[in-house]
Amino acid sequence: MHRSKIAGIGMYVPQHVVTNNDLLKYMDTSDEWIQERTGIKERRFAHRTEETTTTLGVKAAKTAINRAGITPNDIDFIIFATLSPDYYFPGCGVLLQRAMKMKEIGALDVRNQCSGFIYALSVGDQFIKTGMYKNILVIGSEKHSFGLDFSTRGRNISVIFGDGAGAVVLQPTDKPGILSTHLHSDGESAEILAMYNPGTHANHWTEQKLADFDDAEAGEMFMSHTMIDKAQLFPNMDGPAVFKKAIDKFPEVIIEALKTNNLQPFDLQLLIPHQANLRISQAIQKKLGLRDDQVYNNIQRYGNTTAASIPIALCEAWEQGKIKDDDLICLAAFGSGFTWASALLRW
Ligand SMILES: CC(C)(COP(=O)(O)OP(=O)(O)OC[C@H]1O[C@@H](n2cnc3c(N)ncnc32)[C@H](O)[C@@H]1OP(=O)(O)O)[C@@H](O)C(=O)NCCC(=O)NCCS
Repeated sequence: MHRSKIAGIGMYVPQHVVTNNDLLKYMDTSDEWIQERTGIKERRFAHRTEETTTTLGVKAAKTAINRAGITPNDIDFIIFATLSPDYYFPGCGVLLQRAMKMKEIGALDVRNQCSGFIYALSVGDQFIKTGMYKNILVIGSEKHSFGLDFSTRGRNISVIFGDGAGAVVLQPTDKPGILSTHLHSDGESAEILAMYNPGTHANHWTEQKLADFDDAEAGEMFMSHTMIDKAQLFPNMDGPAVFKKAIDKFPEVIIEALKTNNLQPFDLQLLIPHQANLRISQAIQKKLGLRDDQVYNNIQRYGNTTAASIPIALCEAWEQGKIKDDDLICLAAFGSGFTWASALLRW
């Protein structure tokens, strides 16, 4: 059985930089509040009409494919992770296949929010291990700027997120490559960080009403005028509850990956945590006793780019020469679901 390796990596962030002070024109907030609670100084927003989640992904994918020394024609499977797709359906995978003029290969969409990239990487890893595919394109991409509530009502969420994309090409290797991946979920708190509508939940899961449907007997219930009027079409988040769970589950899943491979935190050259909040990364670093140079953070410049944050951070770290051959790298994520995951790899 083969192992898989990252043979090429790429990233793309939109040109438009939005500072914390720029957000003041939409909502009541401050640079001080945002930096103190999250570490974020600025984020990127995609062009309103010329860029989509898929087109950001295409740009990152082109770089990854180039660096792997192959062409789009060589890709034999696409895995696209996002929570902000161009269409409700079909997913971004097929749109990317079309945009990159690829062969009639399989395209899978992964909907695991902040853990999406590691889930996608893990799926790709299994296909390489079984010998089914030889060049798998794994993408994480988000265009959050299109859908968030930029009024003061939505400020606890909208200041955190940014747009961007990252991609890798997975190929078989005889070297160690991806050592293991670890995937988890706990749906008990699914509503704590979620966008409920449009959806078919019909207020089934909660005592609290999550949507106001109009009076239709069938159909026309996905979206109603009342949902728009009552701002029910935006994401919801209980920030402190997410924070608490994240600082438990991140270290747990990192230790799980290390233990599986008989390794210790001090063996790590670099930990790339999903960029949720700088305070969360710092709490993980402290719990694991890692040095500053063992943890990579770039949330200050991009905000939380959800499924894109890990491949963007991995790509930047690699471009800056912080990742060398044989280095032990851990990727770790936590997010809506809740879902959390890790991947340990030898570069
Ligand atoms: C969102 C988060 C930064 C909020 O920080 P917090 O210290 O928990 O703040 P709270 O939500 O308790 O709100 C504190 C106050 O700040 C206010 N506030 C919220 N957002 C604000 C903003 N952007 N600007 C100014 N004030 C804001 C709140 O209204 C509240 O005011 P009040 O005390 O008068 O009611 C923090 O909880 C967090 O990062 N959680 C994890 C979120 C996350 O990582 N999500 C992605 C998961 S992958």
